[in-house]
Amino acid sequence: MPATVLLDAEAVAKHVSRLGAEIERDHPDGVLLVGVLKGALLFVADLARAIRAVPVELDFMSISRFAPDSGRVKILQDLSSDIGGRDVVVVEDIVDTGLTLAYLIGQLRSRAPRNLSACTLLDRPSRRIVPHELRYRGFVLEDEFVLGYGLHTRDLYRNLPFVAAGDPEVVAATPAAYVEQLYGRGAGNAGGSSIGPVVA
Ligand code: IMP
Ligand code: MG
Repeated sequence: MPATVLLDAEAVAKHVSRLGAEIERDHPDGVLLVGVLKGALLFVADLARAIRAVPVELDFMSISRFAPDSGRVKILQDLSSDIGGRDVVVVEDIVDTGLTLAYLIGQLRSRAPRNLSACTLLDRPSRRIVPHELRYRGFVLEDEFVLGYGLHTRDLYRNLPFVAAGDPEVVAATPAAYVEQLYGRGAGNAGGSSIGPVVA
């Protein structure tokens, strides 16, 4: 089964631009965006540029998971600045079970920011274990496993400018299974003729 484009670059840009406007509206004094590496790197870079009327500072955290769905995570790379008294938005690529975000929010809240909220490009509420208020939310997924625009399998597919849905069992068995299709030949398009029409 081929992968399908779920959000093309234009649809991604629309979500980014809307979320940037929402964050800007709620943060007249400026905002510190905390990107969760590596998945949110592309999103946070575009989001920062979509916020034009107030200053944006950027910081990053990197988290590892000890075991899938266990909720036991470890900070691999911590923030470079003190967030005490700051207006902070944590930026995620996708919120699935919510365990990663719950851990991060707990960590950051203990450092006494003035405001703390969460922004995710993709939300998959059907698998949520820890409920969490997502003040800024891009696209809501059904059950699709997604790749591209920061999202990966074995670090592949992150640089695709769109979000594609694929079969998790296919990439678990063969991580590069969708490379030929999604990168295609002659690039510059959504990956070639095997990719069907795009849905926003
Ligand atoms: P959570 O802690 O279950 O909410 O998981 C969030 C993390 O799982 C994300 O930041 C991703 O790294 C990863 N993840 C969840 N769903 C997907 C997916 O469909 N594709 C790729 N990575 C995913
Ligand atoms: Mg993430």
